[in-house]
Amino acid sequence: MSPPASGQQRPELLVQPPGPRSVELAAVHGAVSAPMGPPERPGGIVLSRGEGANVWDVDGNRYVDLAAGFGALLLGHGHPAVVSAVQRQSEQLLLALGDVFPADAKVELLERLTALYPEPAQGIIAQSGSDAVSAALKTALLATGRPGVIAFGGAYHGLGYGPMAACGLRESYREPFAAQVGRHVRFVPYPWSPVLLAETLQLVHAELVQGTAGAVLVEPILGRGGVVVPPPEFLPELARLTREHSALLIADEIWTGLGRCGEMARSFSSCLPDLICFGKGLGGGLPLSAVIGRREVMQAWQRPNEVVHTATFAGAPLACRAALATLDVLEHEQLPERALSLGVELEQRLVTTLGPRGFGVRGAGLMLGIDLGPRPGAAATLMGALLRRGYLTTTGGGQREVLVLTPPLVIDSELLLDFPLALSAAIDEAGL
Ligand SMILES: Cc1ncc(COP(=O)(O)O)c(C=O)c1O
Repeated sequence: MSPPASGQQRPELLVQPPGPRSVELAAVHGAVSAPMGPPERPGGIVLSRGEGANVWDVDGNRYVDLAAGFGALLLGHGHPAVVSAVQRQSEQLLLALGDVFPADAKVELLERLTALYPEPAQGIIAQSGSDAVSAALKTALLATGRPGVIAFGGAYHGLGYGPMAACGLRESYREPFAAQVGRHVRFVPYPWSPVLLAETLQLVHAELVQGTAGAVLVEPILGRGGVVVPPPEFLPELARLTREHSALLIADEIWTGLGRCGEMARSFSSCLPDLICFGKGLGGGLPLSAVIGRREVMQAWQRPNEVVHTATFAGAPLACRAALATLDVLEHEQLPERALSLGVELEQRLVTTLGPRGFGVRGAGLMLGIDLGPRPGAAATLMGALLRRGYLTTTGGGQREVLVLTPPLVIDSELLLDFPLALSAAIDEAGL
């Protein structure tokens, strides 16, 4: 048997994490960073290097990265195509002049992204998921003249003021800033089971008939909300309802898009949203996002007599080149298709391993969630146990009860399919 490729190796722990260097640096971080995050956050390691599906901490421990930058490292750490594109661009042009004089790389990227949309489209390049969702919400207001937004319980769209107002995942995101958060968002329950679909659609309809909502903002699969897959009729029915009431459907594909769930946009298999947000994996690890949409909708940006959504680093060429390289690799190596087939295999193995324990496994492609049931914080505990076995994972769900797996789409299949065994041992260790 040939040795595993570099960047595709099993965990190797030199010291029990967190090792001494991590502890030291985490203490410095604690002193200089504003204090944030739940006190129960597991681990406490500090990362220093990554390659492929492996990442190393400052103590030299090697992990298998099944979190992949919250799903953003579609090609894993340091993919040669991305690294060389960034190197070449850095010798050429680091920054253009935003919306005044764009970089050639930005022009090429917009051409590539709008070509993903099956009808004539235009786009806006942004810098984070939150920024792309803000741009989409602004587009909807400009295009419809209606400020209302219909969003869903359990949803996460980023923490800028516009997207935050539409985060149904936890009240606690909005609560400290409530005095500055707009009151234009109406929440409707996300249909996490087929039984709830009719009620959800009826509530959306009831909001739309009031005529104040210009947008319905939806994740095709709830990501941070716990990898919740809605019934297949959900998106097409939403599209129909929004169209009927002259509102716009915004698909937040920041997590589900660009191949992670098996297609360039998860929504495409069942409907055509008016606007689609991409982020996370788009920049190959660099901060970049975009909203693309129907050309006639995007034309609404002509209306203000000013450039009203821009930034110093808008369309930064380094990130645009990284994105172009990422899109090339996704396409040439057929990674969306790989995500789909490998995801099915992993899901089957997880079901076989975890089924007898009564835990649910769900998701699409290489975005899978393991629901540990009504145990608040259980996934955070399990995440800690997995870290001690050399696996990086994340958590989701309103009470951090879902273990979330979003490995790089290039992960070695054997390495990934070994994971359920480690998971089983970690569940025992965690006493779940
Ligand atoms: C579906 C979705 N939308 C938007 C965002 C926000 O992206 P960012 O953290 O880059 O602002 C996230 C982040 O997790 C997300 O999962």
